[in-house]
Amino acid sequence: MTEVLEIIRQRHSTRGAFDLSRPIEKTQLHQILEAARWAPTDHNMQNFEILIVDDKEKLVAVGQIPAELSEDFLRENYAQLSFSKEELLIKKRGMLASEFPPAWIDPEAWNPTSDYTSQLSFLARSVGETPLLLIVLYDATKRAPASEGDVLGHMSLGCVLENMWLASESLGIGFHVLTVFSNGRVQEQVKRLLHVPPQMKIAFACALGYPANSSDESLRVRRNLEDFIHHNQFGRRDLLWEPSRP
Ligand SMILES: Cc1cc2nc3c(=O)[nH]c(=O)nc-3n(C[C@H](O)[C@H](O)[C@H](O)COP(=O)(O)O)c2cc1C
Repeated sequence: MTEVLEIIRQRHSTRGAFDLSRPIEKTQLHQILEAARWAPTDHNMQNFEILIVDDKEKLVAVGQIPAELSEDFLRENYAQLSFSKEELLIKKRGMLASEFPPAWIDPEAWNPTSDYTSQLSFLARSVGETPLLLIVLYDATKRAPASEGDVLGHMSLGCVLENMWLASESLGIGFHVLTVFSNGRVQEQVKRLLHVPPQMKIAFACALGYPANSSDESLRVRRNLEDFIHHNQFGRRDLLWEPSRP
């Protein structure tokens, strides 16, 4: 139990480069995929397929697809950024601006034409620095029964994601979720390149590898239990907890 809780606590996003000279062994990949296989899904629909991409030429081709950035994304992203570690430690929510490419953190300065190169370099950097991509495909034909908008099907995909992430963490393998793969034209181009059938949608992709720089870990924050736990009625916070670990 302690071990599971420790792995949950240690699981983190690895956004730095991966060591390309150190591929993921097949036995370890197998364990990560087994974790996906045993993920809970609504009605046991198993509404996913997983596409492994480790061919260098394919990874390069994926990296050449320009990532779209919408103004909405930039503005909403900006709203949850902290510009110093101190600010993030107080807010306990959101992310450090330094985790993002400089062109993304100032919506006023954003120019879709001149910043086209930063859109290009975003996928190239994320994909060019990983030995392996797992693309999780959502199969809408395996819809969760009576689930409006297939919300339960989408929650199930989150369970697949978390299982693979925890398995990777337990194996010391870095993991970076890339939701950009599910965006409009990026999704279309990736699907065409990798021969994904039309009825499948890309839910998300994950880049996996051994971190090139072990000191790359960024500051991670969470709210304390007393900030979101309610007792018997919403707003009642009469339970006392051990102080949360920072
Ligand atoms: C559904 C989902 C989508 C995410 N999409 C991205 C993404 O596109 N790019 C990225 O760098 N991180 C992505 N993340 C990672 C979160 O930003 C990260 O989990 C969060 O900031 C907490 O940091 P931690 O994972 O290091 O604890 C995603 C996480 C989840 C659960």
